[in-house]
Amino acid sequence: MVIRSATYIISSPDHTKSPAPDRPEYAFIGRSNVGKSSLINMLVSNEKLAKTSGTPGKTQLINHFNVNDEWYIVDLPGYGFAKVSQSDRRRWEQMIENYLRKRENLETVFVLIDSRHSPQKIDLEFLDRLRKWNVPFCLLFTKADKENQRTVSKNVKDFLDKMRESWQFLPQHFVTSAVKKMGRDKILALIQEMNAEFGAPQ
Ligand code: GTP
Ligand code: MG
Repeated sequence: MVIRSATYIISSPDHTKSPAPDRPEYAFIGRSNVGKSSLINMLVSNEKLAKTSGTPGKTQLINHFNVNDEWYIVDLPGYGFAKVSQSDRRRWEQMIENYLRKRENLETVFVLIDSRHSPQKIDLEFLDRLRKWNVPFCLLFTKADKENQRTVSKNVKDFLDKMRESWQFLPQHFVTSAVKKMGRDKILALIQEMNAEFGAPQ
């Protein structure tokens, strides 16, 4: 898919303030600092579109971006940021749960997993919630440029093996690097495929 345009639309505190659900939408979520905003920028080839930061907790609201006037990308705040208060965490959970369960044009959620680490409980628990809520998702393993290929492959394999213990089917997954633009073509091809199915009878 060719990206002709990508523009920021709005940051909303809840899904009811989001743009009209008239086109397919793809949300990016994962641990704080995992690289959500960077990956979005890599996909649309605009390093300044979504705000990135070395400090976790940069993204706070539900951020909508218009791509090609055809589909939406959504940058979500990350989970698992230790310095967040209980009440902020609860607010995050409620906002995310409502958005993920109620947003009717949400085609799929891209869940980002840091490829440098062995399987983390917090990520597996988040996937359990998606299952409970019936939200379709794919996995994107991020920052693959930061470790050698062997380590990345082992971490990906260990994560999927861990999932096998309680999941009947495994999701699609891609290994990515925002720095090396790794995974871009495959992810955009998948989005194009899903865009074509949007609105078709299930
Ligand atoms: P929050 O919005 O705070 O939850 O973070 P985020 O998940 O949006 O992460 P963000 O894109 O802001 O990136 C966090 C840090 O990781 C930044 O310093 C990025 O430059 C760095 N980073 C992100 N992706 C990559 C990557 O693929 N490779 C490398 N080497 N660094 C990356
Ligand atoms: Mg961010």
